[in-house]
Amino acid sequence: MSEKRTHRLGIIMNGVTGRMGTNQHLFRSILAIRNQGDVRVSEGEVIMPDPILVGRNPAKLEDLAIRAGLEKWTTSLEDALSDTDNKIYFDSQTTSLRVDSTLKAIDAGKHVYLEKPVASTTEEAIRLYRAASAAGIKHGVVQDKLWLPGIRKLKTLIDSGFFGRILSIRGEFGYWVFEGETVAAQRPSWNYRKEDGGGIILDMFPHWRYLLDQLFGQVKGVSCLAATHIERRWDEKGKPYECTAEDSAYSTFLLEGGVVAHFNSSWVVRVRRDDLLTLQVDGTEGTAVAGLRECLIQPRGATPKPIWNPDIERSISYFDHWIPVPPLHEYDNAFKAQWELFLRHVVLDEPFPWDVYEGAKGVQLAEKGLESWQQRRWIDVPVLNR
Ligand SMILES: NC(=O)c1ccc[n+]([C@@H]2O[C@H](COP(=O)([O-])OP(=O)(O)OC[C@H]3O[C@@H](n4cnc5c(N)ncnc54)[C@H](O)[C@@H]3O)[C@@H](O)[C@H]2O)c1
Repeated sequence: MSEKRTHRLGIIMNGVTGRMGTNQHLFRSILAIRNQGDVRVSEGEVIMPDPILVGRNPAKLEDLAIRAGLEKWTTSLEDALSDTDNKIYFDSQTTSLRVDSTLKAIDAGKHVYLEKPVASTTEEAIRLYRAASAAGIKHGVVQDKLWLPGIRKLKTLIDSGFFGRILSIRGEFGYWVFEGETVAAQRPSWNYRKEDGGGIILDMFPHWRYLLDQLFGQVKGVSCLAATHIERRWDEKGKPYECTAEDSAYSTFLLEGGVVAHFNSSWVVRVRRDDLLTLQVDGTEGTAVAGLRECLIQPRGATPKPIWNPDIERSISYFDHWIPVPPLHEYDNAFKAQWELFLRHVVLDEPFPWDVYEGAKGVQLAEKGLESWQQRRWIDVPVLNR
């Protein structure tokens, strides 16, 4: 039997005891890849991720390592960076800590893969991009929504010309995040504190940026009104705190070519729609509504003709007349799918367009959204200098 060639890749996972780090990146991506028998590159050749967990709290790290069946963890980022077997630095710390740690990793010659937003300001994000480019390392940013089954179905529709001319996009994102007093909150408390890098604009606009840019056309302008609807919440220790960051944003984006996209992003909305994120795309030849996994279409030829008349009972059930797009591929976990592409990029030099520059564009849109809200006006989104 021929020997299997294994590319063992040491991966420093910083911030991995957090919600995203543990669930999406460690268990559902890196461990899932190890459990499936690594990333198969060719007959007899595989990539084997070999993680070391990094964080501040030794007890949490040890507990997580045991749960994950891993041996390596440390509270010293410097030690992890000095080990030449570690080739990749991954960061899912809270956003405000990302830049400093990543710059250290770049200095140490590591490839870097980062959660979004890559930084809290465009200036910092571009500084990170320039440092990564100058060092000649490989870099990437999490853009997980692109690999959601619902979004992949939508992309197939766009590529096949289903819509005719695309007119507009309606994005509805959100759900009720409990305040934490009687029912524990589903999100970390720093999300609601501006001074800790919180706010739904910085959290969600990076997602809207890559979805819009890559599916429909570059974002050219933004108008945004946001609010902190709930002013007091209870943190992880049950202590009340004041919310200093916005918990909802109502925004309109203008795309190149004139397509209009309106997104409501909210942590203070109750769900009565198909999914926690729905994207409705209206085109001259048909409409689609994509959720996380499903995508429904209504082509021109099956479009009912509504007539406004509140004096009689509704004659059309508007939720009928929609056709589900069947699955066309196997859909893996979205984070894992992107991780596999990044690992292939590092080992095989395959293309990976989702880099820190693209991540910086997401931060730019958040910044312009905040500017629009503060200045109460429409703001242009210029091409970002590299
Ligand atoms: N791709 C996505 O869909 C997605 C979704 C949610 C969050 N995120 C991003 O992932 C990152 C982590 O978010 P999360 O929801 O996992 O947060 P979290 O609070 O659950 O985890 C944060 C991590 O950073 C560490 N940390 C270090 N110093 C800290 C400090 N001073 N205060 C708080 N935490 C500190 C924590 O120990 C923890 O490991 C954020 O940048 C966030 O924007 C991405």
